[in-house]
Amino acid sequence: MIAIIAGTNRPDAVSLQIAQLYHQLLAERGATSQILDLNQLPPDFAFSALYANAGKNPEVNKLNQLMTEAEKYVFVIPEYNGSFPGVLKTFIDGLPYPNPMRQKVAALVGLGSGVQGGVLALSHFNDILSYLNVETLALRVKLANINKNLADGQIHNHLYNELLNTQADRLVAYAPALVQV
Ligand SMILES: Cc1cc2nc3c(=O)[nH]c(=O)nc-3n(C[C@H](O)[C@H](O)[C@H](O)COP(=O)(O)O)c2cc1C
Repeated sequence: MIAIIAGTNRPDAVSLQIAQLYHQLLAERGATSQILDLNQLPPDFAFSALYANAGKNPEVNKLNQLMTEAEKYVFVIPEYNGSFPGVLKTFIDGLPYPNPMRQKVAALVGLGSGVQGGVLALSHFNDILSYLNVETLALRVKLANINKNLADGQIHNHLYNELLNTQADRLVAYAPALVQV
């Protein structure tokens, strides 16, 4: 199973629409996926589910379980103030230890209303995944000017669709290295 993380808790997020599109791309390739929308996090999760309260919030436990069961990940990350949303870092900080993504693989998709398409957001987030010993696909998809390229839940940009399809192909085909250290 592939977990697709919609990387913000903002209501009616564009990221969730992109996550739904990705779910479709994976289904077309015969891969099972589940969307994990950070908007499903309880509002107080930073206080009720972290540190000394780890494991005590049943709603957060369910999401952490999904992260643990997943074999691969897709992170759909909107650009907020030149980086990724703080709620995504808090979610990562609340995951069980050792991190359930360790020695697995993640594909990164960035989006933003500006021209960068989340390039810095993906770069910052990739550093964290590297620290956690999570492999990332070299192809990181950047969806710039997202407001002009998305309508009715569909991306109307040939290059963007091509990049997303190529990344989905590579994610499904990815096999972990035989020797894990
Ligand atoms: C708090 C916040 C900060 C933002 N900062 C940036 C930014 O630095 N660069 C940019 O291009 N867009 C920025 N935006 C616009 C978002 O990238 C854009 O609206 C995107 O579609 C939001 O994704 P979402 O709908 O999944 O939240 C920001 C939006 C929010 C809510």
